[in-house]
Amino acid sequence: MTTPEDITALRDRALADVAGAGTLAALEEARVAHTGRKSGLTEILSGIGKLPPELRGPMGKSANEARRAVEAALTARKEELEGEELGRKLLEDRTDITLPGDGRPAGALHLLTQVRLEVEEIFLALGYRIADGPEIEDEYHNFTALNVPQGHPARSSSDTFYVAGHPHAALRPQTSPVQVRVMETQEPPVYVIAPGAVYRRDDVDATHSPMFHQLEGLAVDEGLSLAHLKGTLVHVARELLGDGIEYVLRPHFFPFTEPSVELYVRWTDRHGRPQWLELLGAGMVDPEVFGFVGYDPERWTGFAFGMGLDRIAMVRHGLPDLRLLFESDLRFLEQFS
Ligand code: DAH
Repeated sequence: MTTPEDITALRDRALADVAGAGTLAALEEARVAHTGRKSGLTEILSGIGKLPPELRGPMGKSANEARRAVEAALTARKEELEGEELGRKLLEDRTDITLPGDGRPAGALHLLTQVRLEVEEIFLALGYRIADGPEIEDEYHNFTALNVPQGHPARSSSDTFYVAGHPHAALRPQTSPVQVRVMETQEPPVYVIAPGAVYRRDDVDATHSPMFHQLEGLAVDEGLSLAHLKGTLVHVARELLGDGIEYVLRPHFFPFTEPSVELYVRWTDRHGRPQWLELLGAGMVDPEVFGFVGYDPERWTGFAFGMGLDRIAMVRHGLPDLRLLFESDLRFLEQFS
């Protein structure tokens, strides 16, 4: 007959085996041996009912206590062994997962590039193509072929950066010379835009910088009028700045267009003050310019415009100072990525 001493002995053997299990596999064996269906303790527990009534209570109680003690020891030992195993793995596998990775931060397009691509899309959708020209231009394309007469202030070295040692070469002060280069190589009809950097000895204030960006446009076809120019400009201004944009076209003078206009748009600066800002100059291509490139002014008419890309960014985002666009301060640029 089973005695309470037998139960104690079974429990102590089980606890010793559990404590002695050096691996999770050995622990599992001990679990099956001491708490499994065929273990001594399970047999005792399932035989309780056959005991004389006065023994059932005390025997059942101590067998259950023994089983609980063994199960608690199993759980505790299992945690210990798992901890040891993790420690061993971490030692063997020396990859330090806490080191920072070597991934590079994703780059982003500069705000001006974003604006340029957006304006290009608008014109591409209207059927324009993109043209390009040199930033160091000769005097002929910079001025002469654009009908800028000798003695015009734009030609003076106080306005334009000339190249030392090359009196007829200068950094282009506008993208307009690309118009001439396009017409020299192509017969009408022409619909082109030419974005790019331009350089002037401009006094530096919040809306000027010695280097800035323009986007030139030129359309030459039969029957083009100022109405086409206005329709195009207003369409583009609305696409860029919203349908509600307020604008005015003011008469102006440019040597290479006649008549000439300037487009002003209303915007709200950082202090909430409404302002007018000149976004572009434009006009009907002067027949003199057609003369330089060999287009027949009796047959063809054209319009042209040059818009300030930096100013579009300024109006769009209420930038307080144009120069922020050229200082490469990531705290500023990241706001637009
Ligand atoms: N080039 C002029 C400027 O920089 C802008 C301009 C005016 C461009 C009239 C044009 C134009 O093509 O037709 O101020």
